[in-house]
Amino acid sequence: MAPDKSVVACRGRYLGSCASSGLLAAKDDALILGSSRELVQSLGSQVEVRTGFITEEDEEAFLRELEPGLKKKRYEFDHWDDAIHGYRETERVRWGAACEEVLTRVRSVVFADGSKLLGPVHVLDLDKTGYIKPHIDSVKFCGSTIAGLSLLSDSIMRLVKEDSPSQWLDLLLPRRSLYILRDQARYNFTHEILKDEESVFNGQRVPRQRRIAIICRNLPG
Ligand code: OGA
Ligand code: MN
Repeated sequence: MAPDKSVVACRGRYLGSCASSGLLAAKDDALILGSSRELVQSLGSQVEVRTGFITEEDEEAFLRELEPGLKKKRYEFDHWDDAIHGYRETERVRWGAACEEVLTRVRSVVFADGSKLLGPVHVLDLDKTGYIKPHIDSVKFCGSTIAGLSLLSDSIMRLVKEDSPSQWLDLLLPRRSLYILRDQARYNFTHEILKDEESVFNGQRVPRQRRIAIICRNLPG
C-alpha cells in the first residue's frame, strides 16, 4: 500500500532558479515530503529549504574560488566504511568578498546572534555518481544546527528517524537553495543525499549532476 504521504509547501521565494535547473517550479511547489502529515508538521520548524537563496553570480563566485583547489584532489570512491561515496572535500576559513557576503547572509538567517560557529566552512564536492549514506553528524564536534548551500545540481536529502525508520522526510534541494536542519531533525534523524539512480521526489526524477555543498555549522553548546 502506498505510504500516507503528505506534502507541505515551502513558502520560499522562487527566483526562477528551479526552471533553469530543470524543475517545473510553481509558486507553491512543495519541497518537503514526509511519511505522515503529523511528522511534517512536528518537524516543520526544524527543517527548512529556501529556494533561490543565492544568485547565479554568487554560485559562479564560489566556483571561481573553489575550483582550483578542488581540481587538485581526486574524488574518493572506495572507502567502504565512509559515509560518503564519490567525493572530495576541503574547508575554508577565509573567503573572498563575494563569497564572504553570501556566508554572512547565511549565518544571519540561520544562527542566533552570538552563537559560536565552527570556524571553517565545509566544502563537499560530490561527483555525479557520488552520494552520502545515512548518518548523523558528530555530536562531539558539531552543534544543534547544520545549514548548507547546494551548488551545480538539484538533489534529494532524506531524513529517517533513527529509532523508527518508517518515519521519514524527503527534502528537494534545488540548485542554489539553502537548507537548514535543527535540533531533533539534526539529532534524531539520519540524513543522506540520494544517488542519481534513486533520485526521485514525489514521483518525479531529479537528475543528479556534480554537486558542491557549502556547509555551515555551530559548535556544541
Ligand atoms: C555532511 C553532510 C550534506 C550536504 O557532510 O555531513 O551531510 O549537503 N553533507 O552535502
Ligand atoms: Mn552530515
